[in-house]
Amino acid sequence: MAVKSTLDRIFVLELVRVTEAAAIAAAKLVGMGDEKAADAAAVDSMRNELNELPIKGRIVIGEGERDEAPMLYIGEEVGTGEGPEIDIALDPLEGTTIAAKAMQNSLAVVALAEKGNLLNAPDVYMDKIAVGPGLPEGIVDLDNSVEENIKAVAGAKGRLVSDMLVCVLDRPRHAELIDKIRATGARVKLIGDGDVAGVIDTTNPDTSVDIYMGSGGAPEGVLAAAALRCTGGQIQGRLTFRNEEERNRARKWGIEDLDRKYSTVDMAAGDVIFAATGVTDGTLLRGVHSTPDGKAYTTETVVMRSASKTVRNIRTIHNRAVKLSK
Ligand code: FBP
Repeated sequence: MAVKSTLDRIFVLELVRVTEAAAIAAAKLVGMGDEKAADAAAVDSMRNELNELPIKGRIVIGEGERDEAPMLYIGEEVGTGEGPEIDIALDPLEGTTIAAKAMQNSLAVVALAEKGNLLNAPDVYMDKIAVGPGLPEGIVDLDNSVEENIKAVAGAKGRLVSDMLVCVLDRPRHAELIDKIRATGARVKLIGDGDVAGVIDTTNPDTSVDIYMGSGGAPEGVLAAAALRCTGGQIQGRLTFRNEEERNRARKWGIEDLDRKYSTVDMAAGDVIFAATGVTDGTLLRGVHSTPDGKAYTTETVVMRSASKTVRNIRTIHNRAVKLSK
């Protein structure tokens, strides 16, 4: 039986087109050492596709504020202007450095929710802790010690602390965190970039990642929360500020309690659809590749819906010679 949802199921496939287009555009610049060019190509392509959707869309998480991002800025309206009012969180190229260096796990990512359901997160850092599905609600907490969180997850999984693998962004700011994790006996998987994939890895047994910890972008936290709403799993986030300017940025978006801990649903509520297409190969998805004859591209996309908890992996062949007029 179809699960009733106000976010029409039709958007599932529409969203795949959006992330596929961005991924293909960025892939043409993978390995070229130019983060900005790869990002700009993805942004341009994603925006064109979003403008085909029959929605009154508004960017909540985007490329930045209006004065710093010419396209897909926060508050920009996208879509045909007819249809439901939809909030959009996006990152046309998550992992710009990864893409520029042709390394693992860069993605084109979009999440949709009904108006008012995505956290308007400022572009500051967020402390994050995340775990996959099947664990008691609230099992990890940013206010618990590293040891308490790891022991709680190991206990709930019926495993040893030494079995636990914790994913962390490889940054000097995480040196103390990494020491604390290793001191418990747990293992650390360091990633160079791309913590949306890092968080989602907790939901994928093939990666062996049990917990994600550390600080990364707050916008990426909202995107990861949208994905976890669909797959199960929990993320908790708290904004961190390096100066008054960053605090003011949060206040500007209506955030009064700057110390608030955000749960998964605080960041992405209601019906959510999440889609990501691999730009480069990674733990979550294969990247964009050319077919051996060079006549087509292949893409791999995951698209999921919170209402039904359906997770679809879609492999697509895009014929390079055919350009349909819209
Ligand atoms: P970009 O795609 O904007 O380059 O972000 C990559 C990323 O690794 C995110 O996944 C992560 O949240 C953030 O950067 C971490 O920020 P920093 O590189 O400043 O530690």
